Amino acid sequence: MNITTIPGPKGLPITGNLLAFRRDPLQFLREASKEHGDVAHFRFGPSRHVYLISNPDMIKEILVTKQSHFRKAKGLQVARAVVGDGILTSEGKKHMRQRRLMQPAFHRDRIATYGDSMVQQARQLMEEWQDGTVRDVHEDMMKVTLAIITETMFGKGLKEGTDRIAHAIDVGLKYVSTKASSIIDIPLNVPTASNRQFLESAELLDKTIYAIIDERRKEGDQGKTDLLAMLLAARDEDDGEGMTDEQVRDEVMTIFVAGHETTANTMSWIWYLLATHPQAEQKLWAELDEVLAGRLPTVADIPRLKYVSMIINETLRLYPAAWTLNREVTEPVEIGGRTYNPGDTLMMSQYVMHRDDRYYENPDEFKPERFDGDLLKQIPTYAYFPFGGGPRVCIGNNFALMEAALLLATFAQEYRFRLADPGKPVEAEPLVTLRPKNGLMMKLEARSRS
Ligand code: HEM
Repeated sequence: MNITTIPGPKGLPITGNLLAFRRDPLQFLREASKEHGDVAHFRFGPSRHVYLISNPDMIKEILVTKQSHFRKAKGLQVARAVVGDGILTSEGKKHMRQRRLMQPAFHRDRIATYGDSMVQQARQLMEEWQDGTVRDVHEDMMKVTLAIITETMFGKGLKEGTDRIAHAIDVGLKYVSTKASSIIDIPLNVPTASNRQFLESAELLDKTIYAIIDERRKEGDQGKTDLLAMLLAARDEDDGEGMTDEQVRDEVMTIFVAGHETTANTMSWIWYLLATHPQAEQKLWAELDEVLAGRLPTVADIPRLKYVSMIINETLRLYPAAWTLNREVTEPVEIGGRTYNPGDTLMMSQYVMHRDDRYYENPDEFKPERFDGDLLKQIPTYAYFPFGGGPRVCIGNNFALMEAALLLATFAQEYRFRLADPGKPVEAEPLVTLRPKNGLMMKLEARSRS
C-alpha cells in the first residue's frame, strides 16, 4: 500500500491533527489505534507526517532490527538545553561509544550497592510525615527520587550541599518540561523571567559540576564508588580513552533528567492505584509482613517480594512514565511491508499498546496478578515495553525497578495512603512523562502492624 493512502483520523487543512492531539494526547492515540489498526496516519502541521504504529512486530523492527534508519524525533531537542549531547540525546557512533562507556556503571551488581541509600532517603523523608496529615505525595516522590539520584551520583558529603544542586536541577527540569509542552517557542535569549531563572540555575549547575569533576580528577576517586567515580574511570575498550570533562558533565545531567521524574511518577501512580484497590493493598501488606516483619527492606529481599514486583509491572503497564517513543526516519525504510521516507515520524505508544485488548484481558483494570505467571512470555515482547528496547533501551531499568521496590516496601510498611478527595478523579497528564495532573493530594495514615 502506498503510505499516503494509510487511513487515520481526519484533520484540519493547515494544522492537521495537532490541535486534537494536544487537547487529549492519550485519548487521541488510543482512538486512532482502535479505529485504524496497526498503522494510523495523521499530520502535525502542514507537512509533518506522523504514523502511529500499534503492532509489536513493527515496533521491534523500528527499535531493534532496523533502528539504524531512524533517529530520535524532534521533541527531545529541547532537552539538549540541559543535557547537552549525553547518551539520551546523542546519535549514531557517539551514542554507541557513550553507551559502551556507561553500561558497566548500570550493571545489576553495581547498582545493588545503592540500595541502602535508597532506603535511607525514604526514611529521611518519612521524618517529615505525620499520621493524619494531607500532603502532595507526588511532590514527595519527586523529592525522594531526586535525593536518591543525587547521592548515587556524587556520594555523601558534598561540599556544595545536595539541596542546592537538587534545587538547580529541579529548575532545569521544570523548564524543559514546560517548554516541551508549550505551543509558543520563546528562544532562550529572550530575557523572560523563566529563561533568566533557567540560565542562572544552568550556570550554577555547570559551575558546581565542573568544580566537582575537577576536584575528583585531581584527588583521584579515593575509593569512592558513586556513579561519578564510575564515569570518570570508564575507558573505551578500543582506544583506551575516557570521557572529556564536557562529556562527563553532559552524562551527569542526562542521568539526572532521565533518572528521577520517571521513577517518581511510577511511585505516585502506585499510591493512587493502591488507594483505589484495597484488595491489592491488603495483599501487599500481607507480603510485607511475611517477608520483612517490620524490618527495613534490602536488595536481597527483592526476589521474595513478588507481589511488590507485580504491582510495579502493572503500574508501568497502566501508567507508563514514558508514554510514547518517537523516531524520525533518516533513510527510506520498509516497516511491515510499507516504505517510510526521511522526515516521517513513527510513533510507538506504550500507553496504547499496554491497554490493547488483543494482549490484556480487561485492559483498563488494575490487576497485579496478571503478572503472576508467564504473561510476558505469552504476549509479544513489544506489547509491553515500559523501558523501550533495542540499543537505546533504558540504561537505568534495573536501577528503577530496584528503587521502586525498595521505596514501595519502605513506605508501605509504615503508612497507608488515602486520596484526600476520593470524589475527585486523578487525571493523567502526558507531558514529557506521564504524571498525575495537579499533583496527588493524599492523607497519610500510620499503619499499626498486628
Ligand atoms: C520507571 C522509571 C523509568 C522509565 C519508565 C524509563 C523509561 C525509559 C525509556 C522508555 C527509554 C527509551 C527512550 C527511547 O528509546 O527513546 C529510556 C532511556 C533512558 N533512561 Fe530510563 N526510564 C526510567 C528510569 C530511569 C533511571 C532511574 C535512569 C538512570 C538512573 C534512566 C536513564 C535512562 C537513560 C540514560 C536513557 C537513554 C538511553 C540511551 O538512549 O541509550 N532511566 N528510559
